[in-house]
Amino acid sequence: MDIENKTIWITGASSGIGMELCKQLAERGARIVLSARNQERLMEIAETLPGGRKQHWVVPLDLAEADKLITLVEAQLAEIGPVDILINNGGISQRSLFVDTDLAVYRKLMDVNYLGTVAMTKALLPAMIERQQGMVVSISSVAGKIGSKLRTGYSGSKYAVVGFMDCLRAETAHQGIQCLTVCPGSIKTNIAVNALNGSGQAQNKDDESIINGMPVEKCVQDIISAIIKGRDEIIVGKGISALAPTIKRFFPGLFNRISAGMEYR
Ligand SMILES: NC(=O)c1ccc[n+]([C@@H]2O[C@H](COP(=O)([O-])OP(=O)(O)OC[C@H]3O[C@@H](n4cnc5c(N)ncnc54)[C@H](OP(=O)(O)O)[C@@H]3O)[C@@H](O)[C@H]2O)c1
Repeated sequence: MDIENKTIWITGASSGIGMELCKQLAERGARIVLSARNQERLMEIAETLPGGRKQHWVVPLDLAEADKLITLVEAQLAEIGPVDILINNGGISQRSLFVDTDLAVYRKLMDVNYLGTVAMTKALLPAMIERQQGMVVSISSVAGKIGSKLRTGYSGSKYAVVGFMDCLRAETAHQGIQCLTVCPGSIKTNIAVNALNGSGQAQNKDDESIINGMPVEKCVQDIISAIIKGRDEIIVGKGISALAPTIKRFFPGLFNRISAGMEYR
């Protein structure tokens, strides 16, 4: 799908991959709807985009409140008009062992990463189907393809996104809708700093793997290239974080032994 003159709704637009998507897509002539919880930050980012606040919209929302999202998003459509691409990017990660993790943390990860994605799609997909054109992009993770320590809740929510997108693609393939699942490996953003510990607080520190990860600019270039080419699914990253799904697919026993032996953060 072309980017120029398209209206693109991006969640998680206040930081990391979402913020860089706003920048690179606006530079290609898209109108952006920026969503996340931090309204002030979204306004600052919208101001810096080509065309500024006149060309783009800021819609603050909390992905954890799936029940409210559909009404909230639908109410904006009269002003914004048809949305061509939805990018379900907003999310949070986890760094805690299963035995140390409260049930509430699992609920939060599912609410934000999975149900938030489902609710945004529920709000925006019907109009795309009516127009027989549109694209849903969901940012899952390599953790949605393989399991590693400290991520039982995060991986569960990201596997759920992969399954959701596979089914949605099958259901909408003949209605002019494209569904792209993006599975990033380690990308240099605030994801680890914001990741939840076992009691649901941000861990407030970075991980080695993220510090040494792929620059966010390159990750977003790869995502935009996949949007333009109409791909179904991509893995984005460098080194072991990008190779892991292939190793697991062809050598599952070996992969499971490596994963159990690795102190990967
Ligand atoms: N970086 C990586 O290595 C990596 C790898 C695999 C997958 N991913 C996925 O990529 C996506 C973007 O993450 P990132 O790396 O850019 O991390 P980030 O810098 O921490 O950004 C996360 C974004 O999600 C938003 N968000 C978090 N909770 C939210 C909520 N309840 N409601 C609405 N928005 C919420 C945040 O905005 P507010 O705080 O303003 O709400 C922020 O804009 C996530 O889905 C993540 O799981 C990242």
